[in-house]
Amino acid sequence: RRVVVLVSGAGSNLAALLAAHTDRRYGARVVGVVSDNPAAGGLDMARAAGVPTAVVAPRDFPDRAAWDRALAQTVEVFGAELVVSAGFMRILGAAFLDAFPSRVVNTHPALLPSFPGAHGVRDALAYGVAVTGCTLHVVDAGVDTGPIIAQAAVPVEPDDDEATLHERIKVAERALLVDWVGRIARGTLEVDGRRVTVR
Ligand code: GRF
Repeated sequence: RRVVVLVSGAGSNLAALLAAHTDRRYGARVVGVVSDNPAAGGLDMARAAGVPTAVVAPRDFPDRAAWDRALAQTVEVFGAELVVSAGFMRILGAAFLDAFPSRVVNTHPALLPSFPGAHGVRDALAYGVAVTGCTLHVVDAGVDTGPIIAQAAVPVEPDDDEATLHERIKVAERALLVDWVGRIARGTLEVDGRRVTVR
């Protein structure tokens, strides 16, 4: 299954997928990596792995709708059958989601519906939760509101700061992402309201 990964930052989640896809039995092949940020470390990871990259930067477009359409066209050129948003820090608009109905998944570093948005790790820490985690969900028009595919729990340690907690979450997050992208790629992903079935 042809997978395109959207990144904005370091790309450690992407790196985990690139390591997994070297095994042909994994079922998913990362055929393209696209970023909104020309300086994203994930682009270097893709290049090192010989995977084509593209940058679609909002500042290059007159408005969000134009950027959204350009992003969809770029991902379609790679022939994406599944789109994985992994550390992608932009909201995907209707034009993009309509191009890939129920075929865009996102990983979030908190146990949704708790702590959605760009600061899920910081917000969980500030709230004082004892357990947080990560969520893989289907992307819908909201912010981190789509139907949940899988979650993993991660304990918060007393001396945690945002960085140490996020690193611990990322260990679980990479494992969850690799596991479930493989399952989806080898099978099917069906969404019925808030129910997701992968088989
Ligand atoms: C991940 O924890 C992702 O869930 C969050 O930001 C982090 C990106 O990490 N949105 P990386 O770029 O994959 O290293």
